[in-house]
Amino acid sequence: MSDGESIESLIRLESLSKHFGSGSTRIAAVENVTFSVGPGEVLGFLGPNGAGKSTTMKMLTGYLPPTSGRALVCGRDVQEDPLWAKERLGYLPEGAPAYPDMTPESFLKFCARVRGLTGKVGADAVGRAVALTHLEGVLRQPIETLSKGFKRRVGLAQAVLHQPPVLVMDEPTDGLDPNQKHEVRRLIRDMARAGGRAIVLSTHILEEVEAVCTRVVVIARGRVVADCTPASLAARSRYRGAVTLSVATQAGPSPLEVLAGLVEAAQVEDLGTSRTPSGELATYTVLPRAGKDLLGAVERAARAGGWKVDQMRLEPGRLDDVFRDLTGGPSR
Ligand SMILES: Nc1ncnc2c1ncn2[C@@H]1O[C@H](COP(=O)(O)OP(=O)(O)OP(=O)(O)O)[C@@H](O)[C@H]1O
Ligand SMILES: [Mg+2]
Repeated sequence: MSDGESIESLIRLESLSKHFGSGSTRIAAVENVTFSVGPGEVLGFLGPNGAGKSTTMKMLTGYLPPTSGRALVCGRDVQEDPLWAKERLGYLPEGAPAYPDMTPESFLKFCARVRGLTGKVGADAVGRAVALTHLEGVLRQPIETLSKGFKRRVGLAQAVLHQPPVLVMDEPTDGLDPNQKHEVRRLIRDMARAGGRAIVLSTHILEEVEAVCTRVVVIARGRVVADCTPASLAARSRYRGAVTLSVATQAGPSPLEVLAGLVEAAQVEDLGTSRTPSGELATYTVLPRAGKDLLGAVERAARAGGWKVDQMRLEPGRLDDVFRDLTGGPSR
């Protein structure tokens, strides 16, 4: 960004809505979505299939006009100033890059020219994007013959070519194998650290949010249902403060009954038994009653009962549990 463009929110969505169709077939794909993303933030845009993630991102990047509301990039409305926005935006759309007959090299050079990056500046931009996404080995192979993971990387390379302050990625790790997922997440973290960017990525993979995002916005049926940090979202889980323990099976009162009888316990889940070299272990997850010191109570019960505890851990909360609560209900 040039001087005088230090906008606190690089992205700002104001009551953004998109309706498709008309009459009885009218669909409110996105309804009054409002949020901002500042420099250094990696926002995970999370929601189940059909929640409105891609539609929101298309409006944010200027590819789809909103029915109402507006999207601002670096302080300006993307519909009113599309060129201003496109210069400052990198966008990885859903799926594979267009132009399947081109090679990554010719495609990226073409993208650089379209962006006005010519001569040495263009060559440097392509070289940097290729190095960042590790495309060196496939530069001269037609895009249509590349694996999904490499196609995704070509998409990423074109998105970062002009080093935009705002990066919008629609399911960046979709279709990638676990190694490639890991690699792309590392790439996103590196890009976030490289300074001052605002990054939005959509996903329905919770581990992705935990791995790379500083903030999470959850959308369900077109509406924002949560906007907070991944940790505070997980903390809303009924598993927050739950204790999972493995106990050697023994004669006497069953730990399951003792645990279920604790006033501090709301519920006990029996996770079954497993054979280990040191004998048979039974594993339980005990969910806490609100405001109670469950861990202390379980430790006292274990001591009193003379249980041989193999493992015991306290849970910070489960994102998948909260996600289900927030996005559950009838799908459209
Ligand atoms: N061009 C269109 N015409 C009509 N309906 C559409 C159009 N594009 C999207 N929709 C509808 O809008 C809703 C939101 O779709 P969208 O693609 O934004 O969801 P998503 O959150 O990206 O889902 P996914 O996780 O499956 O990618 C869906 O009900 C979809 O069918
Ligand atoms: Mg989508």
